[in-house]
Amino acid sequence: MSSLNNENTSKLSGVIQLLLESSSRINEAKPRRYWYPLSHATYGVDEILEAIDSMCSFRTTMWEKTLLFERRFADYQGCADCVMVNSGSSADLLLSFLFTNPRNPLLRPGDEILVPVVTWPTQVWSPMMAGLKVVLVDVNPETLNIDISDLQSKITASTKAIFIVHLLGNPCPMDRILEIAKENNLLILEDCCEALGAEWNGTKVGNFGIGSSFSFFFSHHITTMEGGMIACPDLTTAEHLKVMRAHGWLRNVEMSHCDLSGYDIDPRYAFVNWGFNLRPTDVQAGFGLHQIRRLPEFNQHREDLANKFFDFIDEQIFLSRPRVEKLARPAWFALPLMVSDESPFTRQEITSYLEAQGVETRPVVTGNIARHPVGKLFSEFQDKTFKGADVIHERGFYLGLSPFHTLRDLEKLIQVFEDFISRY
Ligand SMILES: Cc1ncc(COP(=O)(O)O)c(C=O)c1O
Repeated sequence: MSSLNNENTSKLSGVIQLLLESSSRINEAKPRRYWYPLSHATYGVDEILEAIDSMCSFRTTMWEKTLLFERRFADYQGCADCVMVNSGSSADLLLSFLFTNPRNPLLRPGDEILVPVVTWPTQVWSPMMAGLKVVLVDVNPETLNIDISDLQSKITASTKAIFIVHLLGNPCPMDRILEIAKENNLLILEDCCEALGAEWNGTKVGNFGIGSSFSFFFSHHITTMEGGMIACPDLTTAEHLKVMRAHGWLRNVEMSHCDLSGYDIDPRYAFVNWGFNLRPTDVQAGFGLHQIRRLPEFNQHREDLANKFFDFIDEQIFLSRPRVEKLARPAWFALPLMVSDESPFTRQEITSYLEAQGVETRPVVTGNIARHPVGKLFSEFQDKTFKGADVIHERGFYLGLSPFHTLRDLEKLIQVFEDFISRY
């Protein structure tokens, strides 16, 4: 252990100085090419001090802060238990292995799972990697969510599950999806990586199936730098996931039903399933403890900004924003927009203008994922005809929405749009 000699004392006082200045500097870390960026750093001194605390107490790997954050997240989410992992993609991966892990598989390799064609790609890779056959379903360009009639048309005798995503924070029509799942005996997974805090009929999304994933990447509703969570409806599911999160190891779990008698093994190194190492660090969980406390305030602010911006968009002829189902309360991750097919300007023209004016833009995630080069590698992607996804692919884009964008930013943003639209 290093001692507090003169050199270390001066390094330490440098760190304290940085820390004291950090609240004002935090969003200057990025070069300011954009005055309206996609996201801002949403962590501050509390999170940094918590990280230093983990390091100074030499408890940096998964430990008590992870347990505590999992508990707090489960309380917020209103579910039985949660399993923290090192990214949202890991959450999707681990969830998918609920279906086909050798210890307690729910499905058989080759069974079909329906996944929307517009999403983050790891939601698609995960069930494929778990040995299921992914069948891509079209997306409704009005809502950005799974197209219900295409979903119904893709159900066959081999279909066993649906993996929905509440894209950019807009909840899917859960009543219809639950009905269809019940009629056809399908299991439901939810990707809520862009929808933390969104609700359907008063229930948080992520509570409608056998598990749901969340991401805490930098720009998401809360951040642990990298990180993710799985929300579980029961303790047994969480235990199976905890085992697979850490090597298949019977550690950090009760698993009372795992009888080790008759095995000549040291219970400290007992392996009961296959698994990965997808564990988070306690430094990430420490961030999460502060961020989850701030989440209601963050989301309220995002909602206020989104409402203001969408009120303006609703008055436009050539631009629209996603339709929200009656029973849905979105937790907008971003400000998604669609250029109308009768518009005199293209998506390229408006996004180039916005970028030149210092407003950062992005396409609606993958657009039609079957149109990407990776599509050539897999038979699942050979049929590329997804009419709704193509509309999103060609005419959709989004702008950032962060708790640190201000009302003044929004007014300025609206002015930039007005200047552009007034040319037509
Ligand atoms: C819908 C969706 N699913 C999964 C992920 C993966 O999360 P991560 O970036 O934490 O791996 C993302 C990431 O943005 C996402 O938007």
